Amino acid sequence: MTKRLKIAEILRTEPLNTTIQVKGWVKAFRNNQFLALNDGSTASNLQVVVDFENTDTAILDRLKFGAAIRAQGTLIESQGKGQKVELKATEIEIYGDCNPEEFPLQPKKQTLEFLREHAHLRFRTNTFAAVFRIRHKLAFAIHKFFEDRGFVYLHTPVITASDAEGAGEMFRVTTLPFDGTPRTESGEVDFSQDFFKRSTNLTVSGQLEAELGAMALGEVYTFGPTFRAENSNTTRHLAEFWMIEPEVAFNDLQDNMDLAEGMLSFVIGYVLEHCADDLKILEERLIEEEKSKPQDQRSEMTLTEKLRFVIDNKFERLTYTEAIDILKNSTPNKKGKFQYPVEGWGTDLQSEHERYLVEKHFKKPVILTNYPAEIKAFYMRQDDPKEGVPGPTVAAMDILFPGIGEIVGGSQREERYDLLVRRMHEMHIPEEELSWYLDTRRFGSCPHAGYGLGFERLVLFVTGMTNIRDVIAFPRYPGSAEF
Ligand code: 4AD
Ligand code: MG
Repeated sequence: MTKRLKIAEILRTEPLNTTIQVKGWVKAFRNNQFLALNDGSTASNLQVVVDFENTDTAILDRLKFGAAIRAQGTLIESQGKGQKVELKATEIEIYGDCNPEEFPLQPKKQTLEFLREHAHLRFRTNTFAAVFRIRHKLAFAIHKFFEDRGFVYLHTPVITASDAEGAGEMFRVTTLPFDGTPRTESGEVDFSQDFFKRSTNLTVSGQLEAELGAMALGEVYTFGPTFRAENSNTTRHLAEFWMIEPEVAFNDLQDNMDLAEGMLSFVIGYVLEHCADDLKILEERLIEEEKSKPQDQRSEMTLTEKLRFVIDNKFERLTYTEAIDILKNSTPNKKGKFQYPVEGWGTDLQSEHERYLVEKHFKKPVILTNYPAEIKAFYMRQDDPKEGVPGPTVAAMDILFPGIGEIVGGSQREERYDLLVRRMHEMHIPEEELSWYLDTRRFGSCPHAGYGLGFERLVLFVTGMTNIRDVIAFPRYPGSAEF
């Protein structure tokens, strides 16, 4: 049996003058002779030279774009330009035909919108194959980063009864019937008859459970799907997205920022080092896309320059209060160019404000800290009052990236039992529901901190794609749960 080699391996090891077998999909076939084959192992195709004189015309006619085939022959130094090696085929077998009249994809550029509607087929385009190989490498790099530092990967539940963020944007999980839903005497849905004998939902974050783990394992992280039923129809929101949430005992806000910045630099560096071919495809795609934009809206850097820039420069760190000052005095604010004018301290930042700070003012990633307590979750550590800061703040941090806005959200946690309970009361979070969480503060509590990285926002940044729906295989968003 002749060994099947993957194209990535062939191009890496170039086993010249040996008989090999390759299997993949036809990317192009010209002059009845030169066939570009791709098997997904790399962005590059292998040139297969078909011996058309000794091949059945019935076979030649079936070598269409998209067809799945096997080719066997000798690997030789390429006679033509454009590649170093080529396979001189002696045998061609067709596994699956691909009728060009019916196949929705064409061997030419198709819009991302069209491909989104054909998400089941879009892996077969060069762009999406590159995106998903990079997505994989990023996931691997994240695990590597934490593994190298002794973190424990904790699998937190997908079904939970808690609303970690207290934002109420949850998908309910139930087996209760819609018709004849059981009711209590007071007329409310009787969840005691539900599967879990209580009301449950899909998790919005694994943080609270990760905190429990950190209180014994020291350094943990989660990496799993999270769900938000927020009605956000934007290029940066999904209803189902993957989040990485490290949680570290004895870390304070500074440590937390250092960890997040270190992680982002590491994983971006990893992709630069290991995904050059795929980045090239995406960089070229981006250059093409930018051509349709007016000059002043085009990016000043190529994709790889942008990635390099992020790892070569320290992120700018400043407080929310300082950011508000910058925004209030900014030209777009004074000229009424912001859709949401920045009036005063205390309001949440809109993505236009975040992007102004990152893209126009500092021109690099920014970490904003010490946000008003009012606009952040109940678990964040309350800061001591500070002169010049109009209201109570918490030890929060958000990392803002160019073109993305918020990519990471995190904080030092409130480890002081009394202060945490008081804050929960103020925010109308029932203590009984989170008694297990409060136990961490009752028994051996310690300062600790963590953050959440939105995985798709990271993939979006690294691939230079512009819509988050194009960096997850089967996106879920309002009105859409196809495939
Ligand atoms: O800022 P968020 O809501 O923070 C948390 O969930 C904390 N529990 C994290 C923690 O401290 N452990 O979400 C964290 C990140 C955001 O910065 C963003 O990158 C991403 O998750 N994110 C989304 N990504 C895609 N679609 C959505 N709807 C997202 N919502 C948040
Ligand atoms: Mg956030």
